[in-house]
Amino acid sequence: MSTRENKDGPIGVFDSGLGGLTVVRELMRQLPSEDIVYFGDTARVPYGTKSKEAIIRFSRENTRILLQYKVKMVVVACNTSSSYALDILRKEFRVPIVGVIGPGARKAIAMTKAGNVGVIATSATVASGQYEKSIKQCDGGIRVVSQACPLFVPLAEEGWADKPVTFEIAREYLKPLKKSGIDTLILGCTHYPLLKAALQKAVGKSVVLVDSAKEVALEVDGILTSLGRKRTEKKVGRYRFLISDRPQAFKKLAKNFLGREIKHIQKV
Ligand code: DGL
Repeated sequence: MSTRENKDGPIGVFDSGLGGLTVVRELMRQLPSEDIVYFGDTARVPYGTKSKEAIIRFSRENTRILLQYKVKMVVVACNTSSSYALDILRKEFRVPIVGVIGPGARKAIAMTKAGNVGVIATSATVASGQYEKSIKQCDGGIRVVSQACPLFVPLAEEGWADKPVTFEIAREYLKPLKKSGIDTLILGCTHYPLLKAALQKAVGKSVVLVDSAKEVALEVDGILTSLGRKRTEKKVGRYRFLISDRPQAFKKLAKNFLGREIKHIQKV
């Protein structure tokens, strides 16, 4: 399927649920004039435990929803979707599509001094091996150690970033990575930036944490600029939040991820 691209349209962002709001937060910060339409697939979250076929199907459907809003670009904010569906979406849709794996991998390559990078992500993302592949494609000499951390998503959604139990779980998950001497750690899941303090404490101060949200916003900026589609006028962007289920629950939790209240949420 292809679609007509809209020069002045909003940036479309989708995720399996709430986590992609950490990417929206960065987009708002770095590109304040841009309009954004966000779709969170709260009816089908989590994706991190689903099959490849399901993840691809959901990602395709989410892209179609965003295209109804005449988006000029689609950001696949979900690491799990980016791992399995990005290439397929790029083939099927004509709009520029940005994923989160490449930007995070490139940043990690730039940051590592020892050539020893850790990746933490959902089980599906780790199983896909996409972070490792992206890193090795750029620099085959870098060692990559990955760890699935399925308990982090519910902890972040619960708002338990500062609880001792979160630190204990982080310490347990990160033990093998720490032992292997990583100096850079990719937060390969939308939810993990919320747990940054616990993760940093567990892995040690000397390890650089790579938050792909920041890198993704930079990449979006670069692509819009090179295509001549970046808004240059000084206007404040307008935001629209769409979800597939439970708008009230989303509203309550969204503030943690976005850092501000969401007034209107639309169920689609
Ligand atoms: N958004 C997912 C990711 O970044 C995390 C939550 C889920 O499993 O759906 O991988």
